[in-house]
Amino acid sequence: MSNLKKILVNKHSCKSIWFMRQAGRYLPEFREIRSKNTNFIDLCLNSKLSSEITLQPIKRFDIDSAIIFSDILLVPYALGQNVNFSKNYGPKLDKLNIDKFLDNSEEMFSRKLEPVYKAIEITRVKLEKKKSLISFVGAPWTLIIYMFNLKESSKEINNEALNDNIKSINKILEKLTNFLCTHIKNQINAGADVVQIFDSWAGIIPKKNIDEYCYKPNAKIVDFCKKEKIPCICFPKGIMEDYEEFNKIVKPDAINLDPLINPSWAKKKLTNVVLQGGLDPKILLQKDDDMIDAATKYMYAFKDIPYVFNLGHGLLPETDPDKVKKLVNFYRNFNG
Ligand code: CP3
Repeated sequence: MSNLKKILVNKHSCKSIWFMRQAGRYLPEFREIRSKNTNFIDLCLNSKLSSEITLQPIKRFDIDSAIIFSDILLVPYALGQNVNFSKNYGPKLDKLNIDKFLDNSEEMFSRKLEPVYKAIEITRVKLEKKKSLISFVGAPWTLIIYMFNLKESSKEINNEALNDNIKSINKILEKLTNFLCTHIKNQINAGADVVQIFDSWAGIIPKKNIDEYCYKPNAKIVDFCKKEKIPCICFPKGIMEDYEEFNKIVKPDAINLDPLINPSWAKKKLTNVVLQGGLDPKILLQKDDDMIDAATKYMYAFKDIPYVFNLGHGLLPETDPDKVKKLVNFYRNFNG
């Protein structure tokens, strides 16, 4: 059993470290592949390259888990919505055609994502047994943000666009959740052993809608994972003190902290759940000593409970890979 699974399932306090966005733009070996593959979706659907990219951070840092190189937006793509990644604007999706969306079958959806499952199969064979292979999905709300183009800025939602689309959103929410469960199951069948559910934009849900758009859809996916015995990690980024309510209602095996969550608050309030992450990825852009001080705070706060070391968001593209190496070495030698 992988270290990560031992922590999530058996609550063993063994060491485990990985990083969100560990395979990505901060690695020269990724940038080399990316420069020759200008269409990001096509790159995600190239099983051989996707597997190679997944293994790049494992080769460099010998961390405990690989996360499959893919993207949360492959789900809307597989449901018929065109996805474009433009250099300065981030992802842009074509207007959602609701009838076309509702017409999708599970078979068609799974067939379109077959290259992701193949990449997982290839990677699992190449990965040592004790290492975990993490699969992932975007939570329904976070996908809806992109599918309906609802984001005004990194902190705000376009309320007008939300209100204009509310009927369509409610219409597709359940079906989208079902497709996400199918995608999870397919990834596990292909050889992944854990799933992380990214709700990156949970923090901009209007308070009155948090139950409907965050707790309920996440709980539905977590219930599915429990039924299927799939260890799951939730990440409701930016919901502040609502982490407590989220944890009580959704009950995931583990929960990833964001940088705004105070570690001792988390230890006290988030019970019956494994904690993961929290460290601000920006600290890896600072001096070594500052990075080590900040990382020590997390390691020390959680030294006597099961804790998976990770960040409070993905590694930034401008991160020096040597900094990551130093952090991993420090973690491995930490006895505090
Ligand atoms: O973590 C990993 O190393 C695995 C691969 C992974 C990617 N995206 C690859 C990627 C994972 C787990 C994701 C998740 C993802 N994708 C999220 C949730 C986590 C988060 O960051 O909030 C979201 C919201 C997306 C959607 C997305 N994909 C955006 C907004 C962007 C553009 C800006 C950005 O954040 O990089 C992407 C592109 C993307 N996904 C890249 C990578 C390596 C960069 C592609 C490139 O330009 O080379």
